[in-house]
Amino acid sequence: MATSNFTLNTGATIPAIGLGTWQSAAGEVETAVYHAITVAGVRHIDCAFAYGNEAEVGRAFTRVFSEGKVSRSEVFVTTKLWGTWHTRTTEALEASLKNLGLDYVDLYLMHWPIPLNPSGNHPFFPTKPDGTREVLEDWSFVDTWKAMEKLVDSGKTKAIGVSNCSIPYLEHLLKSATIVPAVNQVELHPLLPQEKLVAYCKEKGIRMTAYSPLGSTGGPLLKDETVKKVAEKHGISVGNVLINWLVARGIVAIPKSVTPSRIEENAKIVALDEEDVEAIWGIHNAQGVKRFVSPPWPVSLLFDDAPWAENFKTLL
Ligand SMILES: NC(=O)c1ccc[n+]([C@@H]2O[C@H](COP(=O)([O-])OP(=O)(O)OC[C@H]3O[C@@H](n4cnc5c(N)ncnc54)[C@H](OP(=O)(O)O)[C@@H]3O)[C@@H](O)[C@H]2O)c1
Repeated sequence: MATSNFTLNTGATIPAIGLGTWQSAAGEVETAVYHAITVAGVRHIDCAFAYGNEAEVGRAFTRVFSEGKVSRSEVFVTTKLWGTWHTRTTEALEASLKNLGLDYVDLYLMHWPIPLNPSGNHPFFPTKPDGTREVLEDWSFVDTWKAMEKLVDSGKTKAIGVSNCSIPYLEHLLKSATIVPAVNQVELHPLLPQEKLVAYCKEKGIRMTAYSPLGSTGGPLLKDETVKKVAEKHGISVGNVLINWLVARGIVAIPKSVTPSRIEENAKIVALDEEDVEAIWGIHNAQGVKRFVSPPWPVSLLFDDAPWAENFKTLL
């Protein structure tokens, strides 16, 4: 049965559908977040320090909460720790909270398990003389996790989690973790179903969140014939099909949109038939897996079903 909330290993609930904010432009994202919460009924906003728009998202929160339409405790807010801040987790969370105008977030994620030089030639993407991104050599993402564990005690985040972690990276983390990540947020859609990772996370009690659930901006999934057929059958949009295919598998989806009608449309929970879910599985079998977000990290992240940068070293 379709549901609008899932449970995390902390006991808290997380709305099954959220609003993404990556690439939501200045001048658009405040309206999008305000519309999502006050009109579309969205109760989950996915942010990140690196998106450069937290302050504008924060203006929407301030408006919503000061108007008293929806209270802070009703909205699940996620934000993320960027690589150049791995050695400064307390300061990073403080900076995000200040941007967002909040006292706490519901979930703080390690954006990528890749510590970057905090004093390099760029605040977000430091590079070496050869132009490759500069990974911090004497720091492990496990050190970062240990520092993030302390943030939970501060009350400034209710839960911590990871993003872009494959099974080997999670295994490495879990060997020394005191807190099991509440969430692993990865690219996940019918062209990248991440079957083994979903099963692994389920076994470990880690809730999966799907980023780029529509196949990201300009992706082919919104025009896919199988998806269209299921949409026609139920009289719903292709976006609804893609999002609810994930929800049907217990996966949180965070579609991004700055278009009011799409924000409303994407927020709808729709029960798909088992045969629809099966038909959508067939898409990657027929077309092969495709990853749409693959930044040029000089690091192998060991995702087995759509590897990229596999000639680089791992950080394990
Ligand atoms: N953890 C990470 O490393 C990571 C990486 C990537 C993304 N994310 C998160 O995941 C969120 C979603 O991923 P994403 O932004 O890559 O891609 P996405 O949500 O799969 O797709 C967004 C694109 O689809 C369009 N769109 C939205 N709803 C639609 C609909 N119903 N019909 C047709 N087009 C629609 C949007 O356009 P309009 O906005 O113009 O409507 C936008 O161009 C991000 O915003 C971010 O919060 C996290």
